[in-house]
Amino acid sequence: MLKVTKAVFPVAGLGTRFLPATKASPKEMLPIVDKPLIQYAVEEAIAAGITEMIFVTGRSKRAIEDHFDKSYEIEAELEARGKEALLEVVRGIKPANVDCFYVRQPVALGLGHAVLCAEKLVGDNPFAVILADDLLHSKEPVMKQLVEVFNHYHSSVIGVERIAREESSSYGVIEGREWEEDVIKLSNIVEKPQPALAPSNLGVVGRYVLMPSIFSHLRNIKPSAGGELQLTDAVASLLSVEQVLAYRYYGTRFDCGSKLGYLKATVQLALQHPEVREGFEQYLRECMPALMPELLREATEMPETV
Ligand code: G1P
Repeated sequence: MLKVTKAVFPVAGLGTRFLPATKASPKEMLPIVDKPLIQYAVEEAIAAGITEMIFVTGRSKRAIEDHFDKSYEIEAELEARGKEALLEVVRGIKPANVDCFYVRQPVALGLGHAVLCAEKLVGDNPFAVILADDLLHSKEPVMKQLVEVFNHYHSSVIGVERIAREESSSYGVIEGREWEEDVIKLSNIVEKPQPALAPSNLGVVGRYVLMPSIFSHLRNIKPSAGGELQLTDAVASLLSVEQVLAYRYYGTRFDCGSKLGYLKATVQLALQHPEVREGFEQYLRECMPALMPELLREATEMPETV
């Protein structure tokens, strides 16, 4: 049986939307409360049974490699001070059964190009693609949901959600026929269409399970939206020869590639964080009493932490 054991994390982007924070450190290392975005993404992959993490990285991204590597200094210090709980947190970042691989994307030619850079490490296997900017919060980790759909149909699966029509120029947008509840058989996919040209209100989120056959399509695509080599165009080409599915996932998405989405994620996850929840809630009550019922309702409606 085809098993998804590899995930590709394209992390070479410059993160200009978060300057000056991202001048010398990767945007994927921005924390939501106390955990960097990339760690949320890797934990989601681990929860889906994935054990090989492939990072498509670039210059000034060393901190990501260090994060998933052993830190002798910190471990020795925590051990000496008897800080067992923190030691466990640090050691747990990369479980022993998980391997990390790094490949460079020398020039930023787009998401399609980034995924193509991972071809040799992925080989002839189905694989996941996770964009760490999209923080997906769900009781059942979203990549696990996608892998389950993949295991059932053995074809590529793309995570989608309902978007407002006027937002379509920020997403890949799909067209297709409902196959079963929340599973759609794709007939078309376009990258960042103008609202009037969007084929539906279903936008692609940063979660994919792809067949290795995608690579031959990635090798043949031409620059399109934004002058970049788009993964969306390779998927459009793939679906002319084999079945591709979209899956409407369960969960809440925070677009942490934008400042607003990042702030929303911080507020909502802080309201669930065991260490700061109480104090933060109290602080919010004090400064914005009128908003509190609404905020708390959102936090309790959110699925539990992955
Ligand atoms: C990428 C994809 C796009 C997708 C989006 C989800 O775009 O190209 O199809 O909808 O991620 O976050 P980006 O946001 O990197 O421009």
